[in-house]
Amino acid sequence: MSKKSRLKIVAGNWKMNLHSNEALELVTGISNYLENNDLPDNCQAIVCPPSPYLFLVANSISEELDNKLSVGAQNCYTKASGAYTGEISPEMIQDIGCLYVLIGHSERRKYFGESHEFLAQKVNKALEVDLIPIFCCGEPLEIREAGTHVDYVSTQLKESLFHLDVDNFNRIILAYEPVWAIGTGKTASPEQAQEMHAAIREMLATQYGKETADSVTILYGGSCKPANAEELFSQPDVDGGLIGGASLKADSFTKLIEILNEVG
Ligand code: 13P
Repeated sequence: MSKKSRLKIVAGNWKMNLHSNEALELVTGISNYLENNDLPDNCQAIVCPPSPYLFLVANSISEELDNKLSVGAQNCYTKASGAYTGEISPEMIQDIGCLYVLIGHSERRKYFGESHEFLAQKVNKALEVDLIPIFCCGEPLEIREAGTHVDYVSTQLKESLFHLDVDNFNRIILAYEPVWAIGTGKTASPEQAQEMHAAIREMLATQYGKETADSVTILYGGSCKPANAEELFSQPDVDGGLIGGASLKADSFTKLIEILNEVG
């Protein structure tokens, strides 16, 4: 499968930002853009609001945009229900109309100590209820400086994803987010992003075969914004972006959709 026919995505990770009126205003701005601009069938947008606003945001999106704009949660737990105060289950996320869930974001790994094994359990549980995991990987600065970033990411994928059979793996979306580029204004160069995305496809080819490696969507994340998106999105193995800061304003987020549509 060529890059042209892979699913292309701009996903906004709103992290712990916005109040409900701002969340609604943002999703309305994105909806307006998508209602007035045709996207190719294989191009779509996802927003990942904080969990208190998931229902509100999912409900505000009109049915006509079903294939163009979807909602994802930023996290999920590994159980369906029970005495797990404060957690939300994949079943609940799916029940309120979300299609996606971020798993393995570096902020979850760093601040909440999420291990490879715990992330593998989340992936399994999400897939069980037909939620699509957007699985994040990426190395911290010291690993990049030591030159062992490809091995580091390989371990993240092996330990949390490579237990999946090929059919389940084919449902996953990957996001490469070098930790040193997240929220720092310091983006990976297009060459650094391409090098890692190509290396990830090689890992997938070895594990699951070339067809899977060629068809999996791999997003880049880390200080991606309209000013640098064109050179990132035009790399042969970059299929879109997972966007933090620049996803909090409708004009910059929709500009990223426009750029992906043009050069992706
Ligand atoms: P920034 O775009 O703010 O660097 O965040 C990237 C990110 O972490 C998306 O998940």
